[in-house]
Amino acid sequence: MRPTVFYSYIVFLIVLSSCAFKTPDPSVQDKMHIFLDSLINEMTVEEKAGQLTLYTSGWTITGPQLREDYIDELKAGRAGNLFNAHTVDYSMKLQKMAVEETRLGIPLLFGLDVIHGYKTTFPIPLAEASTWDMDIIEKTARLSAKEAASAGVNWTFNPMVDIARDPRWGRIAEGAGEDTYLGSLIGAAKVRGHQGEDLADPTTILACVKHFAAYGAAQAGRDYHTVDMSDRVLRETYLPPYKAALDAGAATLMTSFNELDGVPASGSYYLMTEILRKEWGFDGFVVTDYTSINEMVPHGVVADEKEAVALAFNAGVEMDMQGGIYSKYIPELIREGKISEKVLDAYVKRVLTMKYKLGLFDDPYRYLNAQREQETFFSQELMDHALLSAKESIVLLKNEKVGDSPLLPLSKSTRSIALIGPLADNQKDMLGTWHVAGDETKVITLLQGMKEIAPGVTLHHARGAGFTGDDRPGFREAIQAARKSDVVVMALGENFGQSGEAASRSELGLPGAQQALLEEIQALGKPIVVLVMAGRPLTLEWMHDHVPAIVNTWHLGTQAGRAIAQVLFGDHNPAGKLTITFPRNVGQIPIFYSMKNTGRPFDTQNKYTSRYLDVSNEPLYPFGHGLSYTTFDYADLHLATNELSEGASLPVSVTVTNTGPYEGREIVQLYITDKVGSVTRPVKELKGFKKINLKPGESAKVEFTITTDDLAFYTRDMSYQAEPGTFKVMVGPSSSKGLEAEFELKVNGI
Ligand code: BGC
Repeated sequence: MRPTVFYSYIVFLIVLSSCAFKTPDPSVQDKMHIFLDSLINEMTVEEKAGQLTLYTSGWTITGPQLREDYIDELKAGRAGNLFNAHTVDYSMKLQKMAVEETRLGIPLLFGLDVIHGYKTTFPIPLAEASTWDMDIIEKTARLSAKEAASAGVNWTFNPMVDIARDPRWGRIAEGAGEDTYLGSLIGAAKVRGHQGEDLADPTTILACVKHFAAYGAAQAGRDYHTVDMSDRVLRETYLPPYKAALDAGAATLMTSFNELDGVPASGSYYLMTEILRKEWGFDGFVVTDYTSINEMVPHGVVADEKEAVALAFNAGVEMDMQGGIYSKYIPELIREGKISEKVLDAYVKRVLTMKYKLGLFDDPYRYLNAQREQETFFSQELMDHALLSAKESIVLLKNEKVGDSPLLPLSKSTRSIALIGPLADNQKDMLGTWHVAGDETKVITLLQGMKEIAPGVTLHHARGAGFTGDDRPGFREAIQAARKSDVVVMALGENFGQSGEAASRSELGLPGAQQALLEEIQALGKPIVVLVMAGRPLTLEWMHDHVPAIVNTWHLGTQAGRAIAQVLFGDHNPAGKLTITFPRNVGQIPIFYSMKNTGRPFDTQNKYTSRYLDVSNEPLYPFGHGLSYTTFDYADLHLATNELSEGASLPVSVTVTNTGPYEGREIVQLYITDKVGSVTRPVKELKGFKKINLKPGESAKVEFTITTDDLAFYTRDMSYQAEPGTFKVMVGPSSSKGLEAEFELKVNGI
């Protein structure tokens, strides 16, 4: 092994800690600072820029491969971090290169989009948000981190906390949906899960909050498109989830591709310095999204890439993902005095601090243990949790009676079922978007799941249609299967590539010939259950009007088929609730539950009110909607007082009773309306929820506490506070119904 300057620093530290004259011992923090400052002092400007550089590895048919020119950069110390490089075997080679073949031997960070699992794939994030269950969500992140960490990954580009209210945007699949309050809790839970208690634990990995900021508000739902909004909306609706995830300790943050108020995020001093550093005190590091510094040229705010580097650097961005232009231009810009070396040192230190906290300077190979990797992949713990999470993510949208009872759950003594659709026996698409290392061969398909759980039922399976084009050659077989069956189950929706990045759609119906297939099968008059498997809300109005039972199963990952089959046959009573509004048609978009009232709220008696001529204002399924095989009754909404004074809190309770035949879980939701504000307020806002379990006939008193913080907003002068006045409280099973009461908030006795 070549002696490196790095190792002389280790010696320096050992000497420092054993020095007899040194009193008192430097604290752990002090040691880190001394170590890092001395290291930075030894670095050339090129090596410093290298630590601010992140390159992707590529995957070829035979496995992962790093571009030749990156290898040269790496060995020269000009590439300090890699992503899309994983598995112990491969990462070991690269880490050795960095540690043994570069002048200073600084270990690499290995990043990866571990979005909903590494090998074991969990439900897509929008699906898992429907659990409203922070324990499940945190555990998914914890276990994903553990599995990814066992394969050499020490940094994930997760959580994605972009509020999204336009289902045309394919990346809606990656987030928690439309709501700021829920999205903030979910972002924080994911950070806790990934980073655990201590980054020095080699089963934890760095989290990266993305995409800062407001990427989810792309105009017309077209990916990478312009974002423009008032500072009020930005701060009230879009920023809180980023802040919550950072407050939970997220080590890093990613910029977004979009411009905001005319400035691309990666060049925005307002976002990266004023808000992030000065207002929020973030002390981790910022990485750009993929080549987004370079993209400031086509955005049109800089003439060339060198100017782009200066803009991003001076805005407060530490690391360049894949652009390769920090390493190219930083040395030159320092020489020209356009950027400061002192700032460069501070940026490098933030990156090295994370490597230090991960323990990579103690042992650069601590994530690279082949035995641990083998033991962790698809472990029972992972598979069990993937099943639980998948079951809890399923949302029962509709379940009407066929004969005397609701169509679902199906009886295991049903004689025959036709299982039709392109997702019925499909492994790959169950993985959903961003399934990085997900192994489709391990996926349980719906057909397999149904055979496993109901072996006595005769299944007639037919694919019927595909995801694109309008070819109908499969229709005949599907119709025959339906004709000879008692019940039809259709697995329809999107393939994994039809949502996610660069997968915006202008029409949100079932893609390909699936709608035509559904209509032909429906015409046969058999009882039909449709399972909608998609990465976003689809427009399901025809289906809603013609089919008795609809279950939204999203893309549920490795255990998809088993989870869905358990719900179909009643072994698991569904409890998921939507965290995103399902529109009736694309023309209603954007549509979300917390809209404003307008000066002319819809009134059937008056044409000149806010509405459409051709569709109602109401969504097909509202935020918070989700049925159960049992029924719940809400009663006795009780407010401890009708007057709340500033700084005090208001206990609220409601009694929920399971009035149906099955044990079930209910997500009880609390919404607040500020009736009069110095600026207009949303018609309602989620401010609390509880997930409860009740046996048939059982009741529970569900308690909430409203504080004045829950009532605060950006007032007319942009100060963040609660204003006195009347507030409405609604507690119920979704955003569209519930019991209501009112209280007054008194501020300074008024
Ligand atoms: C995406 C990010 C992702 C990055 C690295 C980009 O295209 O926008 O979300 O983390 O690629 O894969």
